[in-house]
Amino acid sequence: MTMHIDASSHPIDTPAEATVTWPKWPSHDSGTLKIVSEVLESTRWTISGAYTGQEAYERRFARAFADYCGTLYCTPVTSGTSALTVSLLALGVGAGDEVLVPGLTWVACASATCSVGAVPVLVDIDPTSLAMSPQAAEARINARTKAILLVHPSCRTADIDAFLDISTRHKIPLIEDCSQAHGAMWRGRKAGSFGALGCCSMQQAKVLTSGEGGAVVTSDPVLAEKLEQLRADGRLFSGTPVESRLELVERGAVQGQNFCLTEFQSAILLDRLQHLDEQNSQREVCAETLQALFKGEEDFITFLRRDPRNTRCTYYNLVMKVGLEKYFPGCTIDALALAMTEALNVQVSPLYQPMNSFRLYNPLSSPRIKNFLNKLDFEPARYPLPQAESARLYHITLPNWVLLGGADSAHRIAKVLRTLAAQPHKVLAARQAPTADAF
Ligand SMILES: Cc1ncc(COP(=O)(O)O)c(C=O)c1O
Repeated sequence: MTMHIDASSHPIDTPAEATVTWPKWPSHDSGTLKIVSEVLESTRWTISGAYTGQEAYERRFARAFADYCGTLYCTPVTSGTSALTVSLLALGVGAGDEVLVPGLTWVACASATCSVGAVPVLVDIDPTSLAMSPQAAEARINARTKAILLVHPSCRTADIDAFLDISTRHKIPLIEDCSQAHGAMWRGRKAGSFGALGCCSMQQAKVLTSGEGGAVVTSDPVLAEKLEQLRADGRLFSGTPVESRLELVERGAVQGQNFCLTEFQSAILLDRLQHLDEQNSQREVCAETLQALFKGEEDFITFLRRDPRNTRCTYYNLVMKVGLEKYFPGCTIDALALAMTEALNVQVSPLYQPMNSFRLYNPLSSPRIKNFLNKLDFEPARYPLPQAESARLYHITLPNWVLLGGADSAHRIAKVLRTLAAQPHKVLAARQAPTADAF
């Protein structure tokens, strides 16, 4: 099908296009201001402070988020990175072990694995979802494989059924990383509730955020008790708090560290969680509108295939595959992302660099592994990732908040893509240097 180009639309570099504003992100309202000021006044800014006579916001958020995810427990932590770190430690993963990690995701999945001493075994992706391929993962399993770290990327979930099957048959625990999928559903159930553990980041760009933050959900009481100690220097909630006394008691059954979420962050998350489903729906509607605008133009723009079992898609970012050779001859995806960034006045990025060549993933530079006999297993280049490399050449991503602007956002994005395609020399003129990778 031929693309409909409106060549009379604005040139992309006019001030009108370049000063477009988008819905404010992160979002907050009077309820958020109220709850944050309650923490300020409360004299308890962290769970390691004394009990004030009212339940810690961290406990309230943990309960609300576990309920939301359909799990029995939730342990809030400082970041997605610390969620992954304590999850691996709770499962007993350490030096000498291997963890299957997607070859196309944020560096934290690999670096958190290295931080516990385990080797990240980089696994290629399924190009239809950009998630880890179950076949490629199973081919990498051996006696040293001690966990599967399954990321639900961007706006689609991985094939959870296939990974549960692999996990059960090989008796290897599954960690679901839902940092990009808060609220996503698979066969009517929340992502994060299928694996032994579900991890989330609540960093600024995520659809549920406190600036920085994270959480681990599980329905396993043994893992939950370990997680609670792993993130609070070995301390646990006493269960019988006394006003003006510390509420955390020193159990020390496992070696913990301090990964506690502050009361400010917990209160923000508690407040924003109430808006998550509504905002997720808004994003979904906007993404579908945009998709409809390119119906019949699949040689120009395509969207990731939606598995019917992925009953709710959430949009950490919107991924589009571009018919680069036909519509932007001679242009790289980095140049197109840069031209779109300028035209839309919002960060448009290519996908992450595949992990075997990601400039932020440099495990051999880390003193953590300097005396390891298996040091060379950490070498990223030893893991071929042809599907990830190919996907990196053709996809662009837009951040979650552009999808909060309704049909207007969808039309603006479509218009800019068409305008650029009508004048590919403008894209070529954009610096061909790599832009920031997807975040
Ligand atoms: C899939 C995934 N896992 C883990 C993380 C790490 O989270 P944080 O930045 O909160 O440490 C991120 C952050 O972008 C992520 O996207």
